[in-house]
Amino acid sequence: MTLAAGIDCGALAGGASSPVRTGAAVGGAPFVQAYGRGAYAYDRGGREYVDYLMAYGPLLFGHAHPPLVRDLDAIAARGSVFGSTHEEEVRLAERISAVLPSVERLRFVSTGTEAMMSAVRVARAFTDRPAILRFAGNYHGHFDAALHEAGASAQTSDAAPSGIPPGVRADVIVARYNDLADLDAKLTDREHQLAALAVEPIVGNMGLVLPAPGFLDGIYERARRYGALVIFDEVITWLRLGLGGAQVALGYEPDLTALGKVMGGGFPLAAFGGRADIMDALAPAGAAFTGGTFSGNPFSVALGHRVLDLIESDPGMYPRLDARAHRLAAGLRSTLAELGLPYPVTQLASMVDLKFRPGPPPRDDDEAAQADGVAFSAYYRAMRERGVLLAPSQNELMFLSTAHGAAEIDRTLEAAAGALRELQAKGVI
Ligand SMILES: Cc1ncc(COP(=O)(O)O)c(C=O)c1O
Repeated sequence: MTLAAGIDCGALAGGASSPVRTGAAVGGAPFVQAYGRGAYAYDRGGREYVDYLMAYGPLLFGHAHPPLVRDLDAIAARGSVFGSTHEEEVRLAERISAVLPSVERLRFVSTGTEAMMSAVRVARAFTDRPAILRFAGNYHGHFDAALHEAGASAQTSDAAPSGIPPGVRADVIVARYNDLADLDAKLTDREHQLAALAVEPIVGNMGLVLPAPGFLDGIYERARRYGALVIFDEVITWLRLGLGGAQVALGYEPDLTALGKVMGGGFPLAAFGGRADIMDALAPAGAAFTGGTFSGNPFSVALGHRVLDLIESDPGMYPRLDARAHRLAAGLRSTLAELGLPYPVTQLASMVDLKFRPGPPPRDDDEAAQADGVAFSAYYRAMRERGVLLAPSQNELMFLSTAHGAAEIDRTLEAAAGALRELQAKGVI
């Protein structure tokens, strides 16, 4: 039985629909949300919190953004799921290809997990090879091949029965992010079994970790050398970094890409796509099967159009978001400096990350794992007491939305200064 603010969550396996939500990593009662508006989450008592969870990324426009949630009943009135192809679905695919040139063809799914799982299957089918190389601390969802030694936000142990069969592990190679020497060492004697290298080009699942110069080039070079494909997991980064995601921002054309989170405007919508000849490996043209009752449903697709409409009609949106996030990061850095605390703050677009590990920002999962979990837990609780809701795990980021204005940033910086001072006075940091 898990008691959360007076709610018995025992009917939910493990107390929540996703493990991180229990707050097990930070202790205390899990946050139970009653509703959300703009930049704010509200608990059952009606208390408001500046929300940096933003549902772990999708809410680029905050909760219940009027242009997104307006007239939803009119959409539903035309039918919320068809089971047949529809025009808006084709049009949305065309709009996505127009901004992501590497995605010549795509297939819609409902979650990021499905998108990555399907991309991996297509890569295996196209190359007729079994092995996938991933990087520790990158999260690609909860399918077997993605979870084996995922590290960071999805700790699984080979020692304990985790439900991942040994046969799956045999075809998954896990290397250290930002470390081409480790990549080469792990690939030794496996090169010609390699179907794909899968990577979060900018990682949002061990905190915010940026690729070191030459790292992504090195991945491409190995892929070309060994006849393997490159899969970019842009489930977080697409539409967080702009219409072109990380790939256009950094100048890459991955063979396959997984998309999700922001694209559905708060509803389940995801996709995978890439080069036309590779995507032709999918049934019915090819032998690789993926499908889904809710894939491309008109409700989520309509929201997908609304998200792109909002972004395309407001060229100032990303610079504004970046400026807000920049101000938040700068404010956090100046408080840390004032208190003599050597913790790094990383910011990119609307993502901000404070790591309780002295020195420069972590470059890989081993370094990220050195962050002080006790300090983070105390910080999480101190922030929550002050009306700021962070993700209850130091592997997650602070996500800003267009609803996070100057007032919310000020309030957050004041809370952070108070929380950090309190923790320092108590000797926690
Ligand atoms: C980079 C990345 N890929 C894939 C996923 C899985 O997406 P979903 O939770 O929609 O299955 C996530 C989820 O956090 C993610 O961050």
